[in-house]
Amino acid sequence: MPTYATMPYHLETERLILRPWAESDAPAFSELLSERGERTYTADRARQAIGGLLAGTRYSGIALLPIQRRDDGDFIGYCGLTTGRSTLEEPEIAYELCRRAHNRGYATEAARAVLGAAAATGRRRLWSTVAPWNAPSLRVLAKLEFVRDHLSMEDNGEVVWLTRELP
Ligand SMILES: CC(C)(COP(=O)(O)OP(=O)(O)OC[C@H]1O[C@@H](n2cnc3c(N)ncnc32)[C@H](O)[C@@H]1OP(=O)(O)O)[C@@H](O)C(=O)NCCC(=O)NCCS
Repeated sequence: MPTYATMPYHLETERLILRPWAESDAPAFSELLSERGERTYTADRARQAIGGLLAGTRYSGIALLPIQRRDDGDFIGYCGLTTGRSTLEEPEIAYELCRRAHNRGYATEAARAVLGAAAATGRRRLWSTVAPWNAPSLRVLAKLEFVRDHLSMEDNGEVVWLTRELP
């Protein structure tokens, strides 16, 4: 595999700051994870998840980064790069935002900054894998000029694979 630069871990946009995880993100991160509705996450469980993310980043040089609003300073979710179903060479872009922050363009704004960070590592292509029913996520990807590539089938349904070349 070619060598890639480490992804920048501090990104700023007009309304948002993406920066490294802190242990103090655990309570807000647990609320976000609990909003998925699959199970309740304690702050301790979220702290462990943060530890796992930080360890993964030390190994991979890519990261999912917490998103903080510049004006309120609150944690509203995360966005970044992850190997996911793809590879470290052509990773996935991923994002998840707290419900209270949806539909204000934040995911698109954060993901645009992550595209720049991905290009800065020297990578040439990103992927995203999304359930076909996830209209908001597909819309974010369309706004970012990702294009549909293929479908795969998993135990819990179809997965749409989208891709985007980096400049
Ligand atoms: C996907 C997600 C991150 C989008 O975050 P967001 O900050 O609301 O996204 P944005 O505001 O940047 O863009 C959302 C777009 O989807 C559109 N949208 C929202 N709900 C929609 C729906 N039910 N049908 C069609 N479009 C929809 C919005 O109108 C907006 O498009 P527009 O700018 O053209 O109006 C957020 O919905 C989320 O966290 N979902 C749960 C986690 C998740 O699914 N992550 C992605 C896994 S692949």
